[in-house]
Amino acid sequence: MTLPTFPEVGLPAMNTLHQREAECIGRVRELVAEARAGHERHQAIGDALVVWLAEVREHFAQEEAWMREAAFAPYALHRAEHARALRELDALVRNWHRAPDLERLAVFVDFEWPMWMEQHIISFDATAAQHLVRRGADDHD
Ligand SMILES: [Fe+2]
Ligand SMILES: [Fe+2]
Repeated sequence: MTLPTFPEVGLPAMNTLHQREAECIGRVRELVAEARAGHERHQAIGDALVVWLAEVREHFAQEEAWMREAAFAPYALHRAEHARALRELDALVRNWHRAPDLERLAVFVDFEWPMWMEQHIISFDATAAQHLVRRGADDHD
């Protein structure tokens, strides 16, 4: 199974969320490879996409809760990025159930989403993690 690797941030709990997502992506990739090899995987892929979507919702909701608790200023912008990405993933999952397109899914899961994740982690999550860690340290002073 080929798992994407994402940049590490300064908050271990956030890295765990990203690792869990990497595993969901790896599972979808594995099924896509099997389907490409001629195996019937339509239902299994649909199930794995639903699990992945739920994981992403949880990942984003957790980060948003942390940022709200820590009164992190760029929260609204970060949340808007999550909402935009979630709409895209949600549309992909709905399309799979309506009119499955294996090649479209492969491009999304191999390139588009992991590239978005990497950029998002570098531009948004890393700064949020830094703030949360600093804030946590201040709370214990
Ligand atoms: Fe994240
Ligand atoms: Fe994020």
